[in-house]
This record gives sequence, C-alpha cells and structure tokens, in this order.
Amino acid sequence: MVAAATTTTGAHIEVRNVGHWFQLPTGVLQVLDGIDLTVQPGEFVALLGPSGCGKSTLLRLVAGLEPATTGSITQDSERIARPDPSRIVVFQDPTLYPWRNVWDNVALGLQARGLLKTQRSRVDDALRLVGLSDFAKSFPHQLSGGMAQRVALARALVNDPQLLVLDEPLGKLDSLTRIAMQSELVNLWQRAGFSALLVTHDVEEALFLANRVIVLSDRPARITAQLDVDLPYPRHRGHPRLAELRHEALRHLGLDATW
Ligand SMILES: Nc1ncnc2c1ncn2[C@@H]1O[C@H](COP(=O)(O)OP(=O)(O)OP(=O)(O)O)[C@@H](O)[C@H]1O
Ligand SMILES: [Mg+2]
Repeated sequence: MVAAATTTTGAHIEVRNVGHWFQLPTGVLQVLDGIDLTVQPGEFVALLGPSGCGKSTLLRLVAGLEPATTGSITQDSERIARPDPSRIVVFQDPTLYPWRNVWDNVALGLQARGLLKTQRSRVDDALRLVGLSDFAKSFPHQLSGGMAQRVALARALVNDPQLLVLDEPLGKLDSLTRIAMQSELVNLWQRAGFSALLVTHDVEEALFLANRVIVLSDRPARITAQLDVDLPYPRHRGHPRLAELRHEALRHLGLDATW
C-alpha cells in the first residue's frame, strides 16, 4: 500500500544503470554496479546491504550531492544534478546547531530560502507533527537522543520534501526509542505523502517501514533481491509474514538464519 498524499506529492525516482567509482591514490574503487531502482510517488523503499557496500553513496547520488559516474538518476523525469529542497537527507546524527533552540533549528530551511517571515506557522506545524511543540524553546543539549532526532525530522519535514532520504536515521537510538520512532516515522510518512528511501542495517526496521526492501551485494553493490512487503499499515510486529520475509532477507544477505 502506498501512502495517500495529503499535503505533498511524492517524488518519482528512477535510477537507471548507475555505476560509481572513486579515484583513490591506490587506484580505482568501484562502489556501485548497474543499479536500477524505482521509487514510485509516495512509496517507501528500504535498502539493506553489508557495511561498506555503497548504500550511503547511492543515497548521496539520489540526493544530488554528487553526480553518478555512469547511468542516470531522475526525479519526475528530470535529471538530478544538484541538491534541491524537494529532496531532504536525514543522517544518523541529528547535527543540530547547539546555539539555536529547537524552533530555530527547525526554521533553518525556510530561513535559508527567505520564506520564514511569511511562513512561520510551518515551523509550528512541523514541531506538532513530531510531538515536540512543548520543547520549541529548548536547546539541543536539553534533549534526549530520540528527541534530537525528532527535531532533525521536523527540520526535514518543514520543507515539505517530495523525497525523504534517510541514512540510518535511527541507528544511534536505544532499541525502545527506536521502535517508538519507527512507528512515528510511518505516521509522518502516511500523513505527509512524501516518497522515502531509507538505508538501515536493521532487517526488522526495513520490513516494518517499507513497501519494498532492496538487498544489495558486497561492494561493488549490485541489487541481489527485492522483497515486496505485502502488508498494510500500521503493521503488527508479530505478524507471521514479517517473520517469513525476515528469513528471506537474511538469506539474501548471506545469513542462513536457523533462529
Ligand atoms: N568520497 C569518497 N572517496 C573515496 N571513497 C569513498 C568515498 N565515499 C565512500 N567511499 C568508499 O566507498 C565505499 C562505500 O561507502 P559507503 O559509505 O557508501 O558504504 P555504506 O554501504 O554506506 O557503508 P555503512 O553500512 O558502513 O554505512 C567504501 O569502501 C568507502 O570507503
Ligand atoms: Mg553508510
């Protein structure tokens, strides 16, 4: 099931035959090989793969932070050539400005685009969306890790992104906060209607959140499997189908789990 768009139309992303290399002093390092993937408008796609295989690199290319060595990446049929406020990246670390309070951190994107004076209510809306209205005046050092990451999400959502690019956004949170944040992320996505491309190391997280899970090989990353998570939202973590899909994903990752 794809989320119903309410305020935003999700981006349609096409990655076609993308290869990527880095020039190192010791030679060329190939990181991506023949990557073909589509994110439908409003779809939530998760990427799983071994450490160092090229997941963050692929996200950086889709975000427009650097150009792919070969192949093409488009958003709504237009080539992605540079960063754009319609595509927002959230990293593992929330990277808030310590001298700005929560409200001012969330306001950054609108301020940078000269929209803050006329659209202040969007900051309040984004804070409400992540449940932090009461902490608008707090400073980053007064927040828990989960709250700081919610501020980072609000800072992304205030721009009404068409694509949210998530690079292990919950990776540093304790497991209870992480589970709560996964549910919040599903709610946010369903309400806002953006497309999402998530990298995670957590198979359960990928299966709980995504419409489709893509498994990548060791470097250079190639797509080795795509799993359709054919379950409606909100999902029940104990659903037997999730256990089956987990087994399948682990098998594709080279872990023939017997547990
Ligand atoms: N700017 C760069 N210059 C040179 N090599 C790079 C650069 N960025 C990434 N690499 C290399 O590309 C490979 C893939 O890195 P990437 O960060 O995409 O992996 P990843 O799948 O995100 O790993 P992890 O799961 O550990 O986050 C690594 O070998 C890394 O050293
Ligand atoms: Mg990475």
